[in-house]
Amino acid sequence: MDGRLMIAVMFLLSVVCTSVPAYAVEGPEYVGHSQCKICHNKKEEGEIWNVWSTKKHAKAYEMLGSPEAKEVAEKKGLGKPPQEAPECLRCHVTAYNPEKDPPLPAKIAMKDGVQCETCHGPASLHVKDGQAFKMKKDTSVDMSAHMTRADENVCRRCHNEESPTWNPERYTREDGTKTGFDYEQAWKKIEHSIPGKEKK
Ligand code: HEC
Ligand code: HEC
Ligand code: HEC
Ligand code: HEC
Repeated sequence: MDGRLMIAVMFLLSVVCTSVPAYAVEGPEYVGHSQCKICHNKKEEGEIWNVWSTKKHAKAYEMLGSPEAKEVAEKKGLGKPPQEAPECLRCHVTAYNPEKDPPLPAKIAMKDGVQCETCHGPASLHVKDGQAFKMKKDTSVDMSAHMTRADENVCRRCHNEESPTWNPERYTREDGTKTGFDYEQAWKKIEHSIPGKEKK
């Protein structure tokens, strides 16, 4: 009897132990840009979603379907269309990771290119904060707590020499010297902000 009980206990333990990791994973998850649009697209708050959607990042996947992209891929001897190549997708799509299966988080679509959470990080916890802040009028919520303020380092994850279209003379500094990426000028091209909000 004891022996069987022991086996039963060990069996149960093994089930519990092997299933724990699946539930132990916590932290923010990707929610996709349509969530951000709900709270960050009011006219008086800078229409941030509209700004993003009209800039190049939103079209970064589409760009991989262009004749220009096919030419780049051929030169690299890629042997497949850029829109299917991990070598291109890793910088042209949010959170694309070929080492994962599937390579994309559930709420992220390829076609949406480089979207908000590329730079601001996975935002499910921030969305919860936002709901408490807005719907429950709980202004004690710190809206910066679960959100990354992006900076130049984020940009350089993709804007670097590994980009096949990298041009070391793309930007001209004030003193006339050239550089492949200039944060101040590049930010001006994609700038979005909440008018009147003080920057920390
Ligand atoms: C339910 C509403 C809500 C949703 C959804 C939401 N936010 Fe926010 N977010 C807020 C509020 C409220 C603030 C604070 C605004 C202020 O300070 O005026 C904020 C602030 C921010 C900030 C600035 C943080 C700081 O440190 O100052 C960033 C960046 C941001 N949100 C990004 C996002 C992104 C990206 C998404 C989508 C993935 C998103 N938000 C979705 C409500 C929301
Ligand atoms: C390391 C990140 C990275 C990788 C990998 C990458 N790209 Fe890009 N791509 C960029 C960035 C950043 C830009 C914006 C222009 C620049 O600075 O190169 C860009 C721009 C482009 C453009 C627009 C041309 C231009 O000059 O703006 C095309 C076309 C393109 N990429 C094709 C590809 C193809 C095809 C692949 C795969 C073979 C690829 N990219 C892989 C980061 C990358
Ligand atoms: C995940 C990769 C990635 C990150 C991170 C990223 N970009 Fe880009 N960026 C791209 C790609 C890919 C393109 C090309 C899109 C196209 O041409 O369709 C691009 C294009 C641009 C362009 C238009 C081309 C040019 O150089 O004039 C600007 C401006 C730009 N990015 C600014 C920024 C800034 C500023 C940051 C950081 C705050 C940033 N990007 C972060 C991938 C990225
Ligand atoms: C290419 C990177 C990049 C993308 C894509 C991007 N942002 Fe940002 N975002 C930044 C940077 C950089 C800042 C400026 C941070 C600062 O001023 O300290 C910023 C600032 C913000 C702020 C704070 C504005 C303020 O006045 O305090 C909000 C809110 C925000 N972004 C929301 C979004 C939303 C929503 C999207 C998608 C619709 C988005 N961002 C897409 C890089 C990005």
